[in-house]
Parts: sequence; structure tokens; C-alpha cells
Amino acid sequence: MPPDRDLIFVIDFGAQYTQLIARRIREARVYCEIVPCTRTWAELRAHHPRGLVFSGGPASVYATGAPRCDPELLSGEVPVLGICYGMQLMAHLLGGQVGGGERREYGPARLSVLRPEPLFSGLPQEINVWMSHGDRVDNPPPGFEVTAVTSGKVTAAIGDPQRRLYGVQFHPEVQHTPQGREILAHFLYRVCGCKGDWTPASFIEDQIAAIRETVGHQRVVGALSGGVDSSVAAALVHRAVGDQLTCIFVDHGLLRKRERQDVETAFRESLGMKIITVVTPERFLGKLKGVVDPEQKRRVIGNEFVRVFEDEAAKLGDAGFLLQGTLYPDVIESGTGSAAVIKTHHNVGGIPADMKLKLLEPLRWLFKDEVRQVGLELGLPEEIVWRQPFPGPGLAVRILGEITEEKLSMVQEADWILRQEIKEAGQERNIWQYFTVLLPVRSVGVMGDDRTYAQPIVIRAVTSEDAMTADWARLPYDLLGRISSRIVNEVPGVNRVLYDITSKPPATIEWE
Ligand code: XMP
Repeated sequence: MPPDRDLIFVIDFGAQYTQLIARRIREARVYCEIVPCTRTWAELRAHHPRGLVFSGGPASVYATGAPRCDPELLSGEVPVLGICYGMQLMAHLLGGQVGGGERREYGPARLSVLRPEPLFSGLPQEINVWMSHGDRVDNPPPGFEVTAVTSGKVTAAIGDPQRRLYGVQFHPEVQHTPQGREILAHFLYRVCGCKGDWTPASFIEDQIAAIRETVGHQRVVGALSGGVDSSVAAALVHRAVGDQLTCIFVDHGLLRKRERQDVETAFRESLGMKIITVVTPERFLGKLKGVVDPEQKRRVIGNEFVRVFEDEAAKLGDAGFLLQGTLYPDVIESGTGSAAVIKTHHNVGGIPADMKLKLLEPLRWLFKDEVRQVGLELGLPEEIVWRQPFPGPGLAVRILGEITEEKLSMVQEADWILRQEIKEAGQERNIWQYFTVLLPVRSVGVMGDDRTYAQPIVIRAVTSEDAMTADWARLPYDLLGRISSRIVNEVPGVNRVLYDITSKPPATIEWE
């Protein structure tokens, strides 16, 4: 990040809304990063942030083990906005009084503004906000005043204009606080002095400079999967270092039907990039023999993937970097900072410690929708930018239990039918992701006059904004009916079709 570009740190105290805060800040065209609350001011200061936002959190400031931060963060050197727990902690650390709320405030609330400047500037005197807290600030710290209250005179916002420290008890980042974006924007622009110049174009410009500096004259091997992430990463690096990039597409035998042909056509013909295709299913399927544990599958594929790249890179001669389309959610979910490890995404956690190539991950700070905007800005065709995500370990994580060639072909055929029908119904853009999963159980059915004892296919179709959360897609019944009957009739070995109606959380999008 060049020093003249605005940067905000979101200090994570473990709130479920932390990523939402980050997204809202970026939507205001200000670049931000989430960091764990254990970072010291000395560490953060080195990056020249314009301000800090303290997230909410599930704890009470008085609870043992409640997350704290370096008090120096509140020294007044840069502005701070504390949200919910963030405000309570701010008040607590600076000598205010936080009380255990006997009455929880949860859900919509009516807020009365006492002092509009700067956070509520230009807003009506009364606004609707979303609350979710038990504790409350009974007395603000010295130097602070109460700038808004909710009914019952509960403190809803505090501020110390001298030190530029502000706190809001409600959640400006959620949709249920309709003016939340404006309140955040006031903090970013009026208090922190951000310019709001972080755009896809500025991101590309910064990254091109950074990639050129990092890569120098070395060769980059691009891991191209045909998905939007690796495609955008490849296009970006291609723009930065041109022919120093060689893209390699690995057909590990775990791809969807016709995937390799589609990718080759799109990239060779429409993007004019040089691609080497490595077709080596035996190498992967051999290593996956007998493997049933999902994390083990991911590790095996991740390791093998990198080995294939190393072999190809060795053939090319002097490659120094491996390009990957890792995104911010992958980084967060792979256990950075305070988030728990949910799954080892193969492009982050499965990388062997002794890998010889250095990693180049120019998208590792972006959310998916930001990647798509960058892709469009780079001139990638819409079909690539809007392709549904496909996990690096491919169909391996959609075949529960051991992977065999027969099961692969079952899942490929079922997936093909699903894709055809979704396209036919004009639902492609409404759904974030849709695929089929093969379960390792058998049930009884009847076909013609014969009894069947065969496996079920699950249809998984979800809507989402960024894969961090998702809901099951409300597909029309008749469409589901058509898909079901085609799968059972056309895919040997399948006699039942199920529809997964679980959101994320508590489930994940993929089954493994
Ligand atoms: P989950 O299943 O964790 O998936 O809800 C979130 C999103 O990430 C995709 N996914 C992966 N992508 N490598 C990837 O590049 C992986 O190992 C991987 N695992 C899951 C998944 O398809 C969904 O879009």
C-alpha cells in the first residue's frame, strides 16, 4: 500500500460483524484491513493508518479473558471509532463507567441525536438503528460527551472531538441501520480525513507497481483454474509483467465436465495468454486412494498441486514465483488472527513448508465482489468474471468418502445436468454457486420393475455476497423437479436426489 493511500485498521474483538464493517468501509472507497486486537500501536503505526475502527465482540468488558487492546491505540494519535463492545472497551479503558445492562437492547431502536457533528451530520434528529448489546456505557470517560441516546436515555453514542475518539453502541455496518453507511462515511471522511480514492482502477495501479517491484525480472508461474480468482490474478500479473508470466492449468482429473476445454478456449482465444495444460489425473487419484478425511484430501491435493507446479516451473527454467488467486475470505478462514480454522483452503493451508517457489497473491486482501470489479476493469470477458466459484480441490470435496473414477463420473454428469437446467431457467446470475454432491450411502428405490440400491445426489445451490455467509437458493419446485428426474434417469448409480436447505453458518457451502 503506497503511503499516500488511505488505510484504516479494523481492530477485531471477535464480533460476527467484523467483516461486514470492513466491507462497508471499502464500499466507501477506503482501503481497510482487519487485524487481531492483540496488535500493538507500535506495529500498526508503522503502516500509517488514517484511523482505527474497534469492532464489536461477544464479551463483557468485565468478563475474565475479555479481549483487550494496547491502550496506546487510544492515545489520540489517530481517530478511533468504537462499535458496540468497541465503544464499551474504549469507555472502560479511558476511565468511563460501563454497567452490566439488566435490560438487553436487541433489535431495532430509535435514536435521538443530541450533537450532530461530526458522525450524525446532515441526518434527521431521530433515526432508526440496530442494537445488539447487554452492557452499556453509564458514564462516558472524562473529555467525552454523550452525542446520542435511545429511548430510556441509554447512551447510544459518545465522542471526544479533541482526541477524535468516538463510539456508537449500535451497529452502523448492518442493513438495519439505514443511515449506517453515512455515519461510517462521516467518520472516514470528516474525522479521519480519508479521500475515498480506493477504486478498482487505483487497486490495479498500486498492484501493478507492487508486482513489478516484487517480481523484478524473474519469471512467474500462474496457477490458472479458470475460476474468477485465478483468472483475475493472471490478468493482473500479465498486465504488470507481460510474458514473464506463464500460466499453467492442471487437469487433476477432479474437474467438472468439459472444464479443461472451456478454460483453454477462453484464455487462449479471448485473452491471448500462453497456457501450458498439464493433464495428470493418475498423479492425484493415485495419491487419493483410500483417503476419506476431508482435511486429508485437501492436504494431499494442495501438496500435489504445488509439486506439479514445481515440476513445470523447473522445465521452464528460472521461475521464482507461484501466482495464486487467494482471496481475503480464504485468508481469514484459514485461521489468521482471531478467526477459527473452519477448513484448510488448499491455496492457503495446504502449501508444503519446503515449497521452493515464492508465493505471489495479489488478491489476498480482496473480497469476491471486489475481485469481479477488478476483473471487469482489466477487461476480462463477462463469462469469466461471472463464473461461479469452484474450489481448488475440485470434485474431491464433493464426493464424500473415497474417490473413485466411477463416482467422479457420477458427480460430473449430475453437475452437468444441474448446470444445463439452471442456465435454461435463466437462474445463473441469481445464484452464487450451484453444484452436486455424492453421498457415500445407499438407499432402496424402484426403477421399472426392478429394485435399486443406489446412492443419493445432493443439490447445493446458494445465494451469497462473498461466501462468508450464504443462504440456500429458493429454486422453483418445478425446476428442482426437472433436475431431479433428469439426474435419476440419466446418471447410473443414482436413485435419489436431495436438496440442501441449510444456510452458512451453520453449514459451509461445500460439504467438505
Ligand atoms: P465453504 O465451503 O468454506 O466455501 O463455505 C466458501 C467458498 O470457497 C470455495 N472453496 C474453495 N476455494 N480452494 C478454493 O479456491 C478451496 O480449497 C476451497 N474450498 C472451498 C467454495 O466453493 C465457496 O465458494
